[in-house]
Amino acid sequence: MELPTTAWQGIDLEQRLAWARRWMRRTAEAAGRLPDLTAVRLAVTAHLDLKSALFLQAYRTAGAAVIVHPADPATTRADVQRLVEAWGIDVTDPAACVAWEPTHTVEMGGDILVEAAARGYDGIVAGIEMTRTGLNRVAALALTCPVFDLDGVPLKNQLHNRFTVGTSTWHTVTARTQLSLHGLTVLVAGYGEVGAGLARTARGLGAVVQVAEVDPARALIASYDGFDVVGLAGDRADIVVTATGRTGTLSADVIGTLKDGCLIVNAGHSADEIDLDALGNGVQAVPAVTSHRVGGREILLFAGGHVANLAAGDGDSLNAFDVTAALIVDSAGWLVAHGNEYPTGLHAYPGP
Ligand SMILES: NC(=O)c1ccc[n+]([C@@H]2O[C@H](COP(=O)([O-])OP(=O)(O)OC[C@H]3O[C@@H](n4cnc5c(N)ncnc54)[C@H](O)[C@@H]3O)[C@@H](O)[C@H]2O)c1
Repeated sequence: MELPTTAWQGIDLEQRLAWARRWMRRTAEAAGRLPDLTAVRLAVTAHLDLKSALFLQAYRTAGAAVIVHPADPATTRADVQRLVEAWGIDVTDPAACVAWEPTHTVEMGGDILVEAAARGYDGIVAGIEMTRTGLNRVAALALTCPVFDLDGVPLKNQLHNRFTVGTSTWHTVTARTQLSLHGLTVLVAGYGEVGAGLARTARGLGAVVQVAEVDPARALIASYDGFDVVGLAGDRADIVVTATGRTGTLSADVIGTLKDGCLIVNAGHSADEIDLDALGNGVQAVPAVTSHRVGGREILLFAGGHVANLAAGDGDSLNAFDVTAALIVDSAGWLVAHGNEYPTGLHAYPGP
């Protein structure tokens, strides 16, 4: 499923790349700092959109052999895929990435490390994981190499997660539904940096905001921030948005209690935060929304439950994501130079 994005339809890819480069100067500077990567076989899991093309190009220009597994078919832009393939980058599935025998990984979601563990492949020297969902998955593996948590550094979770996901998610939802949040009750599931950003932004856009959070400390923080802390189940919310990084957050039981006409949106990495089986097949309401019948009520699903801002929109802004993309470029250079100095297991990334 590729939903046409709102902003760029009909605009030539080269023109879009030039515009992205204009606003992503930090990424270009980081590319210039990369060491020689000619001995590196780098397997990447990423949302294959315009901004990812810039860091993939940086790795290729530094000499790395690169293979890419798209993090989600719904966030893969066909024209960007063709472009990176023209740069000599194969776009394929995790099994083929592992069979290609990578020496290093840079991932959003951990699919390649999960596949490597399943196949008993131990040729990876070191890896980077930059999503909370991926870190949750990687933490459960019997790793054979050091893996570095790029999500935990302030430049990632206290900028990107905290500020930009809320903005780009609500921008996408309102643009694609022709709704505003005024007068609507929004329930945010999960009060990590992403959930907190979604809640603050929704309040700024006029919604009445409630938060459901299983961690008592984070629930308390949400209440100190002025949000009504509630359970997930119930028929109060007009929109429920998930940002937990956990499978099955909106379970069949929870979905069964939602208000007639409730719109479900997922801002987490993976659509599995919602029990999609419980929703069954739907019919299209508008291009980004499907309508489902559950127990005699209608439930609306945004972007098929895929990560909303990237599946139905253009993701984070170019200027803000520039910081993240520069970090992604820099971290690969560091990984190749120093990753092998660490023992097997999950580590904090020692950068900014
Ligand atoms: N859309 C984007 O562009 C984007 C960008 C960055 C991160 N993400 C994703 O957003 C998700 C959240 O990221 P984060 O950094 O805030 O993670 P986090 O782990 O810091 O926060 C998640 C919160 O959800 C809570 N939680 C877990 N299960 C719950 C449940 N059943 N009900 C209520 N609360 C529950 C946890 O206690 C935690 O406080 C991840 O999947 C991450 O990969 C998306």
